[in-house]
Amino acid sequence: MLLKSFTTLAAFAAVTSATIFYAGVAESSGEFGVWSPTSEKGFGLPGRFGVDYSFIDKKGIDVHVDQNKINLFRIAFLLERMCPLSYGLGAKFNETHFDFFKEAVDYVTKTKGAYCILDPHNYMRYNDPSQQPMSGSIIGDTADKTAATTAQFGIFWGELAGRFKDNEKVIFGLMNEPHDMKTSLVVDNSQAAMDAIRKSGAKQLILASGNSWSGGHAWTEGTDSNTQLTKLKDSGNNLAFDIHEYMDQDFSGTHAACTQPASMLAGATAWLKQNNYKAMITEFGASNTTECATMLSDMIKYMASNDVYIGWTAWAAGPFWGSNSACCTDSKQWGSLEPASKAADGGPGLYETLWLKVIQPLVPKQLVWSGISSVNGGIVSTKPGL
Ligand SMILES: *[C@@H]1O[C@H](CO)[C@@H](O)[C@H](O)[C@H]1NC(C)=O
Ligand SMILES: *[C@@H]1O[C@H](CO)[C@@H](O)[C@H](O)[C@H]1NC(C)=O
Repeated sequence: MLLKSFTTLAAFAAVTSATIFYAGVAESSGEFGVWSPTSEKGFGLPGRFGVDYSFIDKKGIDVHVDQNKINLFRIAFLLERMCPLSYGLGAKFNETHFDFFKEAVDYVTKTKGAYCILDPHNYMRYNDPSQQPMSGSIIGDTADKTAATTAQFGIFWGELAGRFKDNEKVIFGLMNEPHDMKTSLVVDNSQAAMDAIRKSGAKQLILASGNSWSGGHAWTEGTDSNTQLTKLKDSGNNLAFDIHEYMDQDFSGTHAACTQPASMLAGATAWLKQNNYKAMITEFGASNTTECATMLSDMIKYMASNDVYIGWTAWAAGPFWGSNSACCTDSKQWGSLEPASKAADGGPGLYETLWLKVIQPLVPKQLVWSGISSVNGGIVSTKPGL
């Protein structure tokens, strides 16, 4: 009895001091294999699972959870594979494809006990990923007769969320990096998705992204800024924002050199604070140069010391990167954050030179390992079973 109350007290003390409840890595692979150099529409669709694309490598997830003790993964998938063009965007899924996806989500959440963000990696577009992120019709664009509608986007999310409503470790990431559209349409589409998710009975955490690639540095900038996202209303009161932030010159994550410090997030942080919101940074990344190591640790410390941030996933692991580097796709072959990763010259990949050296020491020792995914976090502890 005495021991029990002591444990409860200790756990409570940990909750009040912790601000990062969820920490981990983005799994990028489900969106692979559709880019066509000649803009051939439909290229790589539906694609061969395990050949053109995949979702996770279980061995990599094992290392990240068992050894690195991270509790969050963000698994990317393509809307055009989940809802083939012949079906259209909506409630009719390719069940074979859905089963592959669900197997990955179940492995992360049920077998390993971690949390999982479902990530439609579609830039708020549907019907032509051949030149992603630029191709495809903007969802809800009424001037484009071939575009999927806002209502269809809602129907899609209602179906997906309904299928996962009993898995409390799932998090709904509404959309990866909307860009080059009206922010009011990002709001309308996200609201339709949120309403449908709640109508399905799902109560888990929803992450709503911003326009302009969800870029933190530009969150409050311009005449059509993400400050309009205050219009979103979640009847389930379990909403956080999804921010992306890269540290290279143009915030694109394509250059090896780091020049943009965490202080670029000041505007977004102030906006979140002012409106009493929370956020996760579900994409951030850099290469393994000395400047990048410093800026990346600063970024992780910045999130830990500003309580508007509740979690993060670094970009990126995934079974199909080979020696390609998610941080700096334009020039470098330094590997990825996937545990087996090697550089093109056979040397250690970014998993060793960046994750283990820079990121791993900053993974909070206590994270949330049970309970429904929540904007309020939960009881933090070291990974159970140790
Ligand atoms: C559904 O997915 C399977 C497995 O990838 C694929 O063989 C099949 O062609 C897909 N069906 C459609 C209509 O895209
Ligand atoms: C970054 O990783 C690559 C590939 O292993 C390696 O060649 C390079 O020396 C590393 N850079 C630093 C600063 O460690």
